[in-house]
Amino acid sequence: MLTLFLNDSLETQRLGYLLGKYLPSGSVIFLSGNLGAGKTTLVQGIGRGLNIEESIVSPTFTLINEYLDGRLPLYHLDLYRLEPIQVDTIYPEIYWEGMEVDPGITAIEWWQRLLLKPSSYLEIDLVTQENSREARIRQQGTENYDLKFIQSLFNSDQK
Ligand SMILES: Nc1ncnc2c1ncn2[C@@H]1O[C@H](COP(=O)(O)OP(=O)(O)OP(=O)(O)O)[C@@H](O)[C@H]1O
Ligand SMILES: [Mg+2]
Repeated sequence: MLTLFLNDSLETQRLGYLLGKYLPSGSVIFLSGNLGAGKTTLVQGIGRGLNIEESIVSPTFTLINEYLDGRLPLYHLDLYRLEPIQVDTIYPEIYWEGMEVDPGITAIEWWQRLLLKPSSYLEIDLVTQENSREARIRQQGTENYDLKFIQSLFNSDQK
């Protein structure tokens, strides 16, 4: 597990930026954390890292937002308003199977509602501290994400 301290929302965005810049096509990111932990903020950074110009807004009501103008497509899902049985009706798996839509990066808020999960994913748990957050990053499955590389970039002064 990789733990990073995110002192403010710019640092949350910066972590997202690095992920957007370096993660390969087909990556799935599961975002955990309380209401207001910074999940959408992190996805806004991913969008910047992918060179997406459209502004990234929370999909709480739309459930899925697709951004197609960057290095890779970004699929941003927020399942907060759904019961697991309803999640099935929006077919979230098409985003990681990469057959019906172009493969890209899929970021899912409230992924605990999923019935089907991808074989590999990155789980980022944002833990709220008084005026900051701690990001706990784990990889699940066989895909080998280079977390050490992300860590060294995050900790270097280069912005
Ligand atoms: N590292 C941080 N330190 C302090 N505040 C932060 C940090 N990262 C994000 N925030 C702030 O936390 C707030 C919550 O943001 P955001 O909407 O991204 O949360 P969320 O986890 O997506 O919430 P929800 O569960 O409602 O979708 C924003 O005001 C954002 O600026
Ligand atoms: Mg959100």
